[in-house]
Amino acid sequence: MKFFLDTAHVEEIREAAETGLIDGVTTNPSLVAKTGREYRGVLKEICSIVNGSISAEVMATEADQMVNEAQSLAGIHSNITIKIPMTGEGVKAAAKLVHLNIPVNMTLVFSPLQALICGKLGVDYVSPFVGRLDDISHVGMDLVQDIIQIYGNYEYDTEVIVASVRNPLHVLEAAQMGAHIATMPFTIFKQILKHPLTDIGVERFLSDAAKIPRS
Ligand code: E4P
Repeated sequence: MKFFLDTAHVEEIREAAETGLIDGVTTNPSLVAKTGREYRGVLKEICSIVNGSISAEVMATEADQMVNEAQSLAGIHSNITIKIPMTGEGVKAAAKLVHLNIPVNMTLVFSPLQALICGKLGVDYVSPFVGRLDDISHVGMDLVQDIIQIYGNYEYDTEVIVASVRNPLHVLEAAQMGAHIATMPFTIFKQILKHPLTDIGVERFLSDAAKIPRS
């Protein structure tokens, strides 16, 4: 299973990357806006930190403009994956980008039928937003289960990125279901590294180690 970091903060990405566990990064306009930095500059720096898929979202809403923007973003680095929203125009743009061999991550996916379309398009990644579904009282992880079943039925190669992750259980369930990737905020990444019993165990060993006579 691959771990992606869902942030545009380079300090967070640098720190998480030190663990050797980060396989990619997903960004979106909201995440970049939080950094207060210029769009392309942030993406370039992220590409210099993590050697893996780095998702950059288009901001255009019309297919031809999305394709132009995607081509420009793809020029930043060979690891850039273009995030395209799952709209009618987005589908047209994605079809063109697949033809141009530009990697695509279809974002803002909320239904199994939207995901079916992504698989049929042959995009590299589909991003079901589980947290935002939970927010409106739908079980977000049910969508992931449905997508994995559908993609298995047709042997689609599209990789499932569990996105809008809100807690460590989303990551655990993603792994249990066999999702290819979970993209998580830095806070969740730090949470899954930690266990209170591990910390208590270390404290106890250290305090006992201090009692061992020195030679
Ligand atoms: C995924 O690629 C998105 O950037 C992200 O997971 C959205 O998460 P949110 O619902 O917490 O904004």
